[in-house]
Amino acid sequence: MDDMFRTIIEPFRIHSVEPMRMTTPAEREVALEAAGYNLFNLHADDVLVDLLTDSGTGAMSRDQWAAIQHGDESYAGSPSWFRFEAAVKELFPYQHVIPTHQGRAAEKIIFTVLGGPGRIVPNNTHFDTTRANVEATGAEAVDLVIAEGRDAATLHPFKGNMDVAALEALLGERSADVPVVFLTITNNSGGGQPVSLANIRDVSEVCRRFGIPLFLDSCRFAENAWFIHEREAGQGERDIADIVREIASLADGMTMSAKKDPFGNIGGWLALNDDALAEKCRNLLILTEGFPTYGGLAGRDLEAIAQGLKEAVDPDYLRYRIRSTAYLGEALDEAGVPVVLPIGGHAVYLDAKELLGHLEPLEYPGQALAIALYQKGGIRSCEIGTVMFGRQPDGTERPAAMELVRLAIPRRTYTQSHIDYVIEVVTSVARDAKSLPGYRMTFEPTALRHFTARFSPVT
Ligand code: F0G
Repeated sequence: MDDMFRTIIEPFRIHSVEPMRMTTPAEREVALEAAGYNLFNLHADDVLVDLLTDSGTGAMSRDQWAAIQHGDESYAGSPSWFRFEAAVKELFPYQHVIPTHQGRAAEKIIFTVLGGPGRIVPNNTHFDTTRANVEATGAEAVDLVIAEGRDAATLHPFKGNMDVAALEALLGERSADVPVVFLTITNNSGGGQPVSLANIRDVSEVCRRFGIPLFLDSCRFAENAWFIHEREAGQGERDIADIVREIASLADGMTMSAKKDPFGNIGGWLALNDDALAEKCRNLLILTEGFPTYGGLAGRDLEAIAQGLKEAVDPDYLRYRIRSTAYLGEALDEAGVPVVLPIGGHAVYLDAKELLGHLEPLEYPGQALAIALYQKGGIRSCEIGTVMFGRQPDGTERPAAMELVRLAIPRRTYTQSHIDYVIEVVTSVARDAKSLPGYRMTFEPTALRHFTARFSPVT
């Protein structure tokens, strides 16, 4: 890397392309109505730039496609499994690796074993499926992110950190009810913000003092490690893989969605050291996912993930990845669009509370903004606010702490001109934001309502 030039380029060139289809505003209006104003219900070919999620949507590399050809589909003991297990243990040297078809399957298994009524699971911030899987067992999911992490505009290099004093206080009172502590790296629901190595060390020390296992929800571990490399004193000279291994050593296990940093289109795992706990988890795995050497994945998927894990910790890739997300965020910030700062790793989060201040939280300002981005420019984003988190386990509806709209960037998928287009559309929608209508919910399912709820505009 030559420091003389400031442009950070994609460290790859395009090898195979997919068409994108432009729609007219009239076509988009028809599509929206048919979708009940829920962007999850759109046909993806009616979307131009799809920033709904960075999950499973990344572009695989030549070497991943080549690895797929080595997929061995033996039911038990496939060589693909052993390559997958070795690649996971290279970064996360836990005793037991239990493959699952995606992250939430690992969550379902671990919380089925460790959750239950009366139990409490602390996390910096639970992701929606994590919270749902904790609550589905009757346990309580508690978010203990630092105060800075709850405010969109406050600058802090590690806004995903856990409030260690709050954790200590909780464990001081209720440690017998806490079966596990989780840390989400990076903190997705809190703005894709990283957790510092120092914070992971502190949380680990508290957990060990109370004899409670610490697990990592590690979907974006490589992006988190890059932030540590860039922002934390004394870490700048270290290998990314080495930072990841230290993080792993501070915890007792992990849940993982391989659809994020490891460039899988599907996949995940649960990994842990405790033999008895692993035994219980494997028994559940066999009930719903599959035999412990494939766990709901084809041999070819295991191969793609094993190769993707190697690419995920490449510093040239991570420099480009984090810089390209910041490029979008900084341009919007400079244009006066309120965004969560600093810019996170995998996404830019628009602050809809600030931008659509004329709407009440229960008129769903985040949903209103996400709909407008689709109407205006065919961009699909995701509300992370009261639609996602407003319904409480006791049945009441409460405004979420933040009303965010996430522009998640699929890995290695869009070019800078796609992102320049996104900047134009978002800036233009933001200019007229005060004229956008609110929404009411016309259908609500019993759980994870944001996926299937339907809306209509408040006129
Ligand atoms: N944990 C975190 C922090 C996540 O971001 C996700 C998924 C999961 C767990 C569950 O993994 O989807 O493989 O079952 N996040 C995606 C997103 C869906 O859009 O942020 P999964």
